[in-house]
Amino acid sequence: MPTLKIFVGTVYGGALDVAEQVKPLFEEAGYEVDILEQPTLEDLVDPLPDLALFCTSTTGSGDVPGNLTPFVRALKERPPTLTALRYGLIALGDSSYVDSFCGGGRSLDALLEDLGAQRLGERLEIDAMETFMADDEAVPWAERWIAEQQLRQA
Ligand SMILES: Cc1cc2nc3c(=O)[nH]c(=O)nc-3n(C[C@H](O)[C@H](O)[C@H](O)COP(=O)(O)O)c2cc1C
Repeated sequence: MPTLKIFVGTVYGGALDVAEQVKPLFEEAGYEVDILEQPTLEDLVDPLPDLALFCTSTTGSGDVPGNLTPFVRALKERPPTLTALRYGLIALGDSSYVDSFCGGGRSLDALLEDLGAQRLGERLEIDAMETFMADDEAVPWAERWIAEQQLRQA
């Protein structure tokens, strides 16, 4: 069975909630799904999953949450080649932080791209100013993502 790893970056649990809500959609599409709340670089590369989904909020002024900091630091200090990685990215943020809106997700996305990884489709950005429950946007997005990127297993 193909594997999907969901890498979560969260302070207050919203991004984890999103990961837990989309997990059954991927299971139903034929994946073995793992949610990682304290991910390490090894979780990503050893072995590389068939698909990865990064689901992270933003804290500070445009930073990834603390639980994702060691992972991001390792990506920068021991940069792996990620050309075989296909991924999606859900960023949670708040547009009242005008200059750093979704900065954590955006910077992680740029880093993954620099390392050669291939993002499938567009990044989803969920604005807490507009959406009270992030799942309300994330679940339909994940359904569309699976369909449009033809991720369902035969
Ligand atoms: C101290 C603090 C700093 C934040 N900084 C930013 C920011 O720079 N950019 C942004 O888009 N959102 C920022 N946010 C908003 C959160 O990213 C947003 O509320 C998100 O939904 C929280 O998700 P979580 O529950 O997974 O941590 C900040 C929130 C707090 C409490």
